[in-house]
Amino acid sequence: MQASLPETFLWGGAVAAHQLEGGWDQGGKGPSVVDVLTGGAHGVLRRITDGVQPGEYYPNHQAIDFYHHYKEDVALLAEMGFKCFRTSIAWTRIFPRGDEAEPNEAGLKFYDDLFDELLKYGIEPVITLSHFEMPYHLAKTGEGWLKREVVDHFVRFAQVVIRRYQHKVRYWMTFNEINNQMNTDSDLFGWVCSGVRFSQQADARQAMYQAVHHQFVASAQVVRFAHELNPDLQVGCMCAFTPFYPYSCHPDDIMLAQQAMRDRYFFTDVMVRGAYPSYALRDWARRGFDIEMAEEDAAILAAGKVDYIGFSYYMSSTVQAGEAKSIAGSQDGSSPYSVANPHIRSSDWGWSIDPVGLRYALASLYERYQVPLFIVENGFGAVDKPAEDGRVHDDYRIDYLRAHIQEMIKAVTLDGVDLMGYTPWGCIDLVSFTTGEYKKRYGFIYVDRHDDGSGTGARSRKDSFHWYQQVIASNGQQL
Ligand code: BG6
Repeated sequence: MQASLPETFLWGGAVAAHQLEGGWDQGGKGPSVVDVLTGGAHGVLRRITDGVQPGEYYPNHQAIDFYHHYKEDVALLAEMGFKCFRTSIAWTRIFPRGDEAEPNEAGLKFYDDLFDELLKYGIEPVITLSHFEMPYHLAKTGEGWLKREVVDHFVRFAQVVIRRYQHKVRYWMTFNEINNQMNTDSDLFGWVCSGVRFSQQADARQAMYQAVHHQFVASAQVVRFAHELNPDLQVGCMCAFTPFYPYSCHPDDIMLAQQAMRDRYFFTDVMVRGAYPSYALRDWARRGFDIEMAEEDAAILAAGKVDYIGFSYYMSSTVQAGEAKSIAGSQDGSSPYSVANPHIRSSDWGWSIDPVGLRYALASLYERYQVPLFIVENGFGAVDKPAEDGRVHDDYRIDYLRAHIQEMIKAVTLDGVDLMGYTPWGCIDLVSFTTGEYKKRYGFIYVDRHDDGSGTGARSRKDSFHWYQQVIASNGQQL
């Protein structure tokens, strides 16, 4: 039995361009769907505005200004011993409107410089092509990925960056948390995942499947392109994996949990296996959904199966048979049947804390697909207050990460899961996706920036910085 993690294990951290770069209109960048999202809070959803409106506050415009500070930030990641760094390429730095024929050289140059900086320290870039960052221009009608032509725009963008960076970036992912849009009760998830406002659609669920079909086709085309260009490249999918537990051993709860899990597996089933699963086709027929597909789509999906599954794990969810509830206000991976799990505590933002669920997720995914897995997000959003000595003593974050890493190691050593790496979310403090807050912090590195945009932007090491440094140096032995 393998007693520890492989020496090649990719320890690192994860971020997304729009949550840390700032410089939202610099270097020729165009506005993305996130640039028209206002701030929110726990229980208060962010609003989508019609374009960038004077007098509104958009937290992602400034973020932590990584655009100008990436050199000092990368030096801190290197000090922690990072083997890899997951970020995204902001689509609108490369194609500001999304439909141009030629890319923006200043945007391409920025990522060349960033990747060179990472590689200087031996840090491997892990790149998401679309992390909630589609061009606003392609989304402003509220139809986004419902339009088939967006497939071509995205594939053109992906081809440009994969060709350009193929010798600097080996690991790619297509769409971040593509399954978040399964929550069609609120416009936030459809907006960021595919530029679609579900509230404007006659049947939100049918619209969601249509937009997602186009993304599956685009993803498969990108996988195939990358493989043909350079066989060293590995392209994965990326899903938010919040497993559903049955509330009780009542057969109705068991059945419900199984069906709820299909909302998770649907996405990986198509992208890993290259075809639609039978339960989805039956469901569409029963509901009378007519998802438009081109004749060649089945062959495209079959020829573009991903190499690995990247997934985020923050929490589990528990479902109980009964009345379905609206999840319009939900800021997590709830189902309309989710109830509180009496055995699990929650964070200040109501996200359950369930380390064992990570082992369960890893084993479930690996047993179903037998492809390599990559935990590309996991972490604890918490309020950090610098103490009198000026430092953040975030033992609560260390406790959370330690418990999850322990379960992750069990999944590898006891369950035999093929795991590529672990990149905790928000390794440097940044803007929260669901709430737009700075105060929901995840980082090992504190950034002096606050919800109203104030702060010096200064970076400092939290206690978890030193702890994670030792975790990486010992390959997970010293926790
Ligand atoms: C995932 C996203 O949903 O979780 C990230 O991929 C996001 O973009 C992260 O930031 C944590 O969510 P939040 O809302 O706490 O920032």
